[in-house]
Amino acid sequence: MATTIDTKRSGSIPHGGELIQRHVSESARDAYLKKIDTMPKIYLNAWNLSDLELIANGGFSPLTGFMNETDYTSVVEQMQLSDGTVWSIPITLDVDEATADTLDIGSTVALVGQDEQVYGVLELSDMYTFDKEKEAKLVYGTTDSEHPGVKKVYEKGDIYLAGPIFLLQAKQNEKFPEHQLEPKETRKLFAELGWKTIVGFQTRNPVHRAHEYIQKCALEIVDGLLLNPLVGETKSDDISAEIRMKSYKVILDKYYPKNRTRLVIYPAAMRYAGPREAILHAIVRKNYGCTHFIVGRDHAGVGDYYGTYEAQELISQFEQELGIQILAFEHAFYCTACENMATAKTCPHDKSNHVHLSGTKVREKLRNGEELPKEFSRPEVAHVLMEGLRQR
Ligand code: ADX
Repeated sequence: MATTIDTKRSGSIPHGGELIQRHVSESARDAYLKKIDTMPKIYLNAWNLSDLELIANGGFSPLTGFMNETDYTSVVEQMQLSDGTVWSIPITLDVDEATADTLDIGSTVALVGQDEQVYGVLELSDMYTFDKEKEAKLVYGTTDSEHPGVKKVYEKGDIYLAGPIFLLQAKQNEKFPEHQLEPKETRKLFAELGWKTIVGFQTRNPVHRAHEYIQKCALEIVDGLLLNPLVGETKSDDISAEIRMKSYKVILDKYYPKNRTRLVIYPAAMRYAGPREAILHAIVRKNYGCTHFIVGRDHAGVGDYYGTYEAQELISQFEQELGIQILAFEHAFYCTACENMATAKTCPHDKSNHVHLSGTKVREKLRNGEELPKEFSRPEVAHVLMEGLRQR
């Protein structure tokens, strides 16, 4: 299933060849809503809701619903869907056994948010038990319940429900309406802007100098940058999406060429699955229309669970089949001897010249109202973060 990048067209071909759309027309929505009281209800958490949205808007193309057992097993064990398409992270909907006992295969299930709104329906085609430790080990590379992604797996109900979905209404991200674009809209936007090559940048952090450096290195060789921060569920000590979005706007406004950058939210939950999640991140950005995707140091990693370049090593094995060009960057830093940003590839000086701060140190400094070194973070960004954290 090799896909090649055609740089004459604007953007990439969706994963699996077609951008999936699972929204319904207004009349179909009304018809479903009329029958809703006769349907069994499943309550979705924030994580499930963001998955539902990404299946429906094509971010997770070629998925049309939550994975059945065959696809699930194939993804967990072999990193591909049962038809051979590369896929690295199971996209599943869990319920407890008592709830599963009330459901019948072949029925239509209402997918309801905690706010009692009906967001979608699931045509239930499969229910199955799964091995949590196996999923943890193979997908996250560890069975340690301290790992935030593994913890989520262990907290799940014991049964996965599967089948195609339809979205009746999207969970509106009211906080960032002007940055909420679906893949079909980003594709249109890239075409209008005349961008043929687009680099996608995943982040769950503020944009610091190292991020800026690798983004701008990429911008030297492509037409446009899609800054695509993840705004779904993250672990509690990550900086909130609201504060981060303010910081992105400040840095884009002041330090990036306006006609070559766009800020669009990625509504997914963070799995912290390191190498496997890097592959998912690349697939989704391909679906948003990106032709290139940045994978830097410890992409989607957490703690010491993954090696610094493990994500790059894994994704490089799939690059041909993924059909999106991976731009792999080494650990970037400011070097006081070079007086600029660099990596080990471009800097001859030893570590004592390199400005580095861990995420924990950064948060600690910001909470204490201490300035961050300007070689590490643009002061404008640091001030937004400091102000945001002070108000919490
Ligand atoms: S992530 O969990 O979303 O990957 P983060 O927001 O920190 O975390 O990183 C966004 C992207 O920038 C990832 O591709 C990551 O590998 C890369 N990155 C982060 N910091 C650096 C750095 N100092 N040098 C090179 N790449 C980096």
